[in-house]
Amino acid sequence: INEKACNLILFGGNGDLSYRKLLPALFNLERKEMLHDDLNIIGCSRTELSDEVFQSEALEGLKENATSNPDESPEITQRFLNRLSFLSVDASDTNDFQQLKQHLSSLKGNGCHIYYLATPPGLFVPICQHLEAVGLVNDKSRLIIEKPIGYNLDSSIEINDQVAAVFAEDNIYRIDHYMGKSAVQNLLALRFANVMFEPLWNQNYIDHVQITVSESVGVGNRKSFYDNVGALRDMVQNHLLQLLALIAMEPPTHLNPEALKHEKIKVFRSLRPIEGKRTKYNTVRGQYSAGELDGESLPAYNQEGDNPKPSNTESFVALKVDIDNWRWSGVPFYLRTGKRLSSRYAEIDIQFKEIHHSIFKLPTKANRLIIRLQPKDSIQLMLMNQEPNLSGAVNLVSDPLNLSFTDQYDPADIPKGYERLLYDCIIGDPTLFMSRYEVEEAWRWTDTILAGWEEFDVPVLYYPAGSMGPDAAEQLLAKDGRKWFNNNEH
Ligand code: BG6
Repeated sequence: INEKACNLILFGGNGDLSYRKLLPALFNLERKEMLHDDLNIIGCSRTELSDEVFQSEALEGLKENATSNPDESPEITQRFLNRLSFLSVDASDTNDFQQLKQHLSSLKGNGCHIYYLATPPGLFVPICQHLEAVGLVNDKSRLIIEKPIGYNLDSSIEINDQVAAVFAEDNIYRIDHYMGKSAVQNLLALRFANVMFEPLWNQNYIDHVQITVSESVGVGNRKSFYDNVGALRDMVQNHLLQLLALIAMEPPTHLNPEALKHEKIKVFRSLRPIEGKRTKYNTVRGQYSAGELDGESLPAYNQEGDNPKPSNTESFVALKVDIDNWRWSGVPFYLRTGKRLSSRYAEIDIQFKEIHHSIFKLPTKANRLIIRLQPKDSIQLMLMNQEPNLSGAVNLVSDPLNLSFTDQYDPADIPKGYERLLYDCIIGDPTLFMSRYEVEEAWRWTDTILAGWEEFDVPVLYYPAGSMGPDAAEQLLAKDGRKWFNNNEH
């Protein structure tokens, strides 16, 4: 049996995630000849959609989002589209699942089904229960669930418990697509395959860490979904905390799922709760008002897309996070993320401390390691350098030592997050996925912030679309005598 000859069933198959990320990622795998001939992709949702319409909508998605233009390789594109079929499945209707079963039995494959739930978390449990009820779950079946898993710790435990009644933990792949980004995996190589960083990677040499995930897009047509979620649940509880964990964790004993998850959980347990009044001082919530970017007028959050009714959901959040453990005592991690900011980029800045003693009469700048996740992966180490000059005068400047992944490797060979993770699931490798305990620990910490916001009525501050968030986010660092590093700022 070829393990790759499985069928992939996408619930939420005609949704935003599917067209924008999942199908383009699978198409990239097709181009790299990584998909088995017998692998089929079945889109499911309540909508009635013919196979042809599903295929043509998918093609539109590929044109906008795949790494290479599908028109350039018509044969490959056709082969990919031939894998796609669509079935209308109502998550509450057993008959629909019977039909899904029939459809699956008419397809080739090894009998292994991967169910991808790109749906709101409220549908996870009914879908799993129906799959089991019609006999579509066996010990080879895998389940991929998207974040956010629940809306808080309690609902996440409930979902995890009920899903566990159907699928074994080893077969549940909780996806965080940031873990699939090459630059994120490279954090492990950077820290643990080099001798030079680990001795400095602690409170003796590091002043603070910044993690920024800045998006220029707005919520658009996802507003009705997003109104119930907000930036803290959508981005911080998962993506930013995963990045923080990889930076902060102790060296794992092995590169295997258990060892990695164990170390990440230890970090989550060391996060100092931001609770009570501390939510007022250590967090900033923001929402975009109307603004402008590159000459284009942009609507306010509350005028967006499918649900233009006012809500005070945060589209921006900035946090000062302390990690109470031996390595990081006294080293703040500043996190910020938001929509409709001035540019799309994601970056981790490790700011080292000043030199202990200077022999130069001129000021020096402390070293900084800049790990770029997007738009282009790179690692830069800012070093003090003597600028060449004839007079022999000391002239110190801060220059980058630069590793650009796109110069070093063919950009087409650098897999996108979903591409890597979907492939890992197809071959049964759970290393980069999250365990339920990780998700729950992350919620435990996030919940205290949500409670503090409510208890102390922490206001949502407006920022113009196209800016870098509310001024209060600048003050969060200014209070500590620091400032955010913005895009391409050395
Ligand atoms: C998703 C969030 O998980 O990540 C979206 O739900 C966000 O709101 C997206 O836009 C960002 O992903 P990326 O890979 O474009 O940074």
